[in-house]
Amino acid sequence: MTENRNPEAAWAYHDATKHSSISIRTNSHFMDWSNQPLPFKIYPTLKPTCLPGDMRQTGIAALSAIAETLPAQSNACPDLEAVAQLLYLSAGITRKRSYSGGEIYFRAAACTGALYEVELYLVCGNLAGLEAGVYHFAPAEFGLRRLHAGDYRRVLLEATGGEPAIAHAPLTIVCTCTYWRNAWKYQARTYRHFGWDNGTLLANLLAVATALRLPGRVVCGFVDASVNRLLDVDSQREVAFSLVALGHDLARPPSSIQEISALRLETVPLSQREVDYPLMREMHAASSVDTAEEVEAWRGHTPLTIFPPSVGSITQLQPLSDAEMPRDPIEQVIQRRGSARKFVRRPITLEQLSTLLDRATRGVPADFLDPQGTQLNDLYLIVHAVEGFPPGAYVFHRSRGVLECLKQGNFRAEAGYLGLEQQLPADAAVAIFFLADLRPILQRFGNRGYRAVQLEAGILGGKLYLAAYAQLLGATGLTFFDDDVTRFFSPHAQGKSAIFLVAVGHSAKHKSG
Ligand SMILES: Cc1cc2nc3c(=O)[nH]c(=O)nc-3n(C[C@H](O)[C@H](O)[C@H](O)COP(=O)(O)O)c2cc1C
Repeated sequence: MTENRNPEAAWAYHDATKHSSISIRTNSHFMDWSNQPLPFKIYPTLKPTCLPGDMRQTGIAALSAIAETLPAQSNACPDLEAVAQLLYLSAGITRKRSYSGGEIYFRAAACTGALYEVELYLVCGNLAGLEAGVYHFAPAEFGLRRLHAGDYRRVLLEATGGEPAIAHAPLTIVCTCTYWRNAWKYQARTYRHFGWDNGTLLANLLAVATALRLPGRVVCGFVDASVNRLLDVDSQREVAFSLVALGHDLARPPSSIQEISALRLETVPLSQREVDYPLMREMHAASSVDTAEEVEAWRGHTPLTIFPPSVGSITQLQPLSDAEMPRDPIEQVIQRRGSARKFVRRPITLEQLSTLLDRATRGVPADFLDPQGTQLNDLYLIVHAVEGFPPGAYVFHRSRGVLECLKQGNFRAEAGYLGLEQQLPADAAVAIFFLADLRPILQRFGNRGYRAVQLEAGILGGKLYLAAYAQLLGATGLTFFDDDVTRFFSPHAQGKSAIFLVAVGHSAKHKSG
């Protein structure tokens, strides 16, 4: 049995990184501002080539782009402008803010602590305007640094055990995560953040790809060492976390594998010193796979969620149709997004809530979700203020498009407590919790199922963000007291683990409808 097949490591990591009111009170960690990590990976010896700055406007409504999955058969190849658009709207700098210690460069997708530990690399064949190669995306310069010249897509095809989407993708974006950049603030819990922050970025990336008519597919199953070697990352510090196959070309990558030379490129240190949290590296090692055969057996066959029979009252959701929904284009909505810092206690409508849930959960194209449309996370809601809808705790039955009431009541104080004693989930109109039954997931996918469940939550959370801002609402991701969340939604949620939290409502800052 490989280490991935023994899920004890995922359980140990999950339990050790739970938040509780005691763990928060007894943790003496503080942010050492004198040792704050750089928010960018910089290769001082490589000059970046600038990407085109003029953005194409697809005009595709954000609420369509997040909901639709294009079939893999569409023949589609991105050109350099499309590449620039994909990168800018998923990981580009969209806003700057000065503070006493310098400037924060906010990016297109939400990220815990605005620490941006996710780096993007391109592995492509010849595209219009971009030669075949392996490139690193440099958001600060909005450019690409070429690490290898030539077509290396075959390396990814072999590393993913022949994943069909990778076989036909003219371009694959590899997302890596850098431990220290996020662990500076969040310590060992950072490994969960890898999934969340990579996920919100992927929600944007997939939506923009759809708007550009490029099929996209998230690939979590790959031989870790092969991908890390191709990118030349120091895997004690930075690791490949997910791949996204983009576009579809009938021709497969050339069969002769290019020799991968070790580059040993200099990079600027992130901080004067780095603090190691071995728990994360152990979790990563235990969820790594070593062979293409293992990867082939890993993907697909998602365990199904079975809910207990409904006992609470049922409300049918009333999502807006394509003809009725707000049609603000994806480019505009991504640039408008920014996490709500304060909510005003004003109700949203049932149509808004319904549209949000419906559009965000129509399915993620991913190698761990098979058949298409399956989902690992279940959504539980604390509704505070939705017009014509009793406040209370609910569970979302996705297949039936209904909410089942678990208990009625005003739970603003409880939501504030569960969201790490913050005001945001108490003041929002609704707090949406993601819970997952890790037992069948880890049994099916091993420790790597833990990566998948966190990543899926981040993607769905990112879609909720976009669905909120498309309707002129505000949203924010939040962290939470793990076991208290499960207890709050029990007995329905008994045995499940808290994975993610998003609060949605009227942002005090934005003028909302
Ligand atoms: C998964 C996740 C968890 C977050 N948790 C919190 C939180 O607990 N409290 C908070 O105020 N903001 C939280 N945020 C919001 C981030 O601080 C915010 O995304 C970051 O500062 C970047 O700003 P922006 O989203 O406005 O671009 C979270 C964001 C994400 C994606």
